Amino acid sequence: DSAKLTLDPAFAIGPVERRLFGTFVEHMGRSVYTGVYEPGHPDADESGLRRDVIDLAREMGVTVVRYPGGNFVSNYNWEDGVGPADERPTRLDLAWRQIETNAFGLDEFMSWIEEVRAEPMMAVNLGTRGLREACDLLEYANHPQGTRWSDLRVKHGRREPYDVRLWCLGNEMDGPWQIGGKTAEEYGRLAAETAKAMRRVDPRVELVASGSSSSGMPTFASWEATVLEHCYEHVDYVSLHAYFDPARGDRASYLASAVEMDAHIDAVVATADHVAAKLGTRKRLRLAFDEWNVWSQSLFDGEASLDWAEAPRIIEEDYDVAAAVVVGSLLISLLNHADRVGVACQAQLANVIAPIRTEPGGPSWRQTIFHPFALTAAHARGRVLRTEVAAPGFPTERFGEVPALTAAATHDDETGEVTVFAVNRGERPLPLDVDLRGLPGLAAARHVAVADEDAGARNSQEAPDRVVPRAVDGAAVRDGRLSAVLPPVSFNVVRLT
Ligand code: AHR
Repeated sequence: DSAKLTLDPAFAIGPVERRLFGTFVEHMGRSVYTGVYEPGHPDADESGLRRDVIDLAREMGVTVVRYPGGNFVSNYNWEDGVGPADERPTRLDLAWRQIETNAFGLDEFMSWIEEVRAEPMMAVNLGTRGLREACDLLEYANHPQGTRWSDLRVKHGRREPYDVRLWCLGNEMDGPWQIGGKTAEEYGRLAAETAKAMRRVDPRVELVASGSSSSGMPTFASWEATVLEHCYEHVDYVSLHAYFDPARGDRASYLASAVEMDAHIDAVVATADHVAAKLGTRKRLRLAFDEWNVWSQSLFDGEASLDWAEAPRIIEEDYDVAAAVVVGSLLISLLNHADRVGVACQAQLANVIAPIRTEPGGPSWRQTIFHPFALTAAHARGRVLRTEVAAPGFPTERFGEVPALTAAATHDDETGEVTVFAVNRGERPLPLDVDLRGLPGLAAARHVAVADEDAGARNSQEAPDRVVPRAVDGAAVRDGRLSAVLPPVSFNVVRLT
């Protein structure tokens, strides 16, 4: 049995939005401290930023970084993290029950992100704080000078405004675990008023309303509907969060996680468009999938394991080959929704459910999930083409029978290059036959895959390159058709020139 795909440059979903290759740095576990920031580390610069991690983030192709949370932001005073280091207070972080020294804050983050050459996506605290503090933070970040908060930034050595465009209006405000959580009515009103005020401070901001913390929440969709009825006209995006759990349910359903991501995106689009119809507006919201990843969340024992430590080792998930394949399929799902998903952030970047791992005082390395992200960020260029997939069935407990293949394709109009991203969910090699309709100039195919005879193989400090992308022989273009064989449980990138 083979899988078939038809590509035609006349049929495109939308441009490849560079902001799809975002990531997330939260004050949580060792994401910041001993992750991106570790004064005294042999690779740290004079500000304590780990150069090895900056280099890996660049290599990954990260374009956007969400900061400082996550649940952390809902109890955070941003002012604690700016100004002279010895005057910054040490606080209890109620989200993760950690000690927060505030040694790293907004100005350090902005220095770091400039080095990574990515765009910041800031979150404001709408848990324990509100409109006033959000506007103060925006004034500090974006106002030129001559006012209380902008002058403070200048005093801290940053003359030019940061010009941060993307702002999240709180985080997971529907979650019972959220410090200062809200009902949909309360949050919708607060988001609307905060958005209006923030636009007065800086009209160029792009604002993200906080959607449900997962599609499994009991209030999923009704939360979005109520919140958006209040704030639709004032925001640009609605957020989605999803984590896919290898420790829950059958393996086939886990390998087919992208089916759930597709349905999640479609449901939020439908809900947002329903509100637009109700309000009689032609404006269409875009989606910010600003937390997504593989995470064995069912194994996390929550607050019980958290006990007022500084930079504890929490949720340092070790990823295997199967996780990389699932991550690849989630990237394919995001690409295939390029018409509506405008921002996406893999959660997180360093140590905490992360593609990059570090040891304090020691090395950093790429986890398996680093590779599908880096390959997709590097090669998804131009426009995403519509793919017609016909593939053998793949039985799952949760979704019934789904195709064994999921794929996306991009076409770079400038270079003429076409890239096919394809996941074989099945345990057998899958021959792939692609009809390259309307793409007569393509002659050469280069195929790399993340796959292994042992789908449980992982990278580690001792064996950091146990799993890397490898070239696959046999891909060829003949008579306007590409043929290739996708290894079992694999993420594949086939570049056609
Ligand atoms: O990324 C880890 C946590 O997951 C974030 O803090 C929160 O927003 C989500 O529940």
